[in-house]
Amino acid sequence: MKRILPVFLALLIVAAAGAWAAEKIPGEVTSLLQKRCAVCHKGKTPPQGLSWQADKVAEAIDAASREFPEMKIIDTASPESSYVLKKVRGDKGIKGSRMPPTQALGADEIKVLETWILGLKKFPAPVSAVGSPGGNYRIGDFDFRIGFNIFRTF
Ligand code: HEC
Repeated sequence: MKRILPVFLALLIVAAAGAWAAEKIPGEVTSLLQKRCAVCHKGKTPPQGLSWQADKVAEAIDAASREFPEMKIIDTASPESSYVLKKVRGDKGIKGSRMPPTQALGADEIKVLETWILGLKKFPAPVSAVGSPGGNYRIGDFDFRIGFNIFRTF
């Protein structure tokens, strides 16, 4: 019993954390990804190491793209530049194919992904937090984002 208890508690925590992460992703999004993407993007060696299986979707958030390491698959600082949106729209400048490579997503399906990803936007830390232990923006980044946000309000 002494040995089993910590293992049991650890499993409980992992299960709770997993449930929490899955809960934050709308069901509409995970089911679309299962149907149209996880056919290929699954298992131990998914294409470009990118799995869209329901329990892996959260890992794509703020993860670097392998095709363009300077871009993020899902970019919470700048959701409109998320590489996955470029790939499903087949934007100019992507590497490889539009996703899925076979039948393209419909406009309504792209909208489901866009609505979710745009809603993940994180705003930059306040000036007082820049350079403080919790701040993770460089000054240049910060100025750029402020400028960008102001620009977008006009
Ligand atoms: C038929 C199999 C297949 C399907 C279905 C598929 N993909 Fe892919 N995906 C690939 C392959 C192969 C690559 C690598 C080559 C390329 O990019 O063309 C890739 C690459 C990607 C990349 C680039 C990853 C990186 O690190 O840069 C993204 C993003 C992506 N897929 C998203 C999706 C999404 C979203 C869907 C569903 C809407 C999807 N894929 C459906 C096979 C597939």
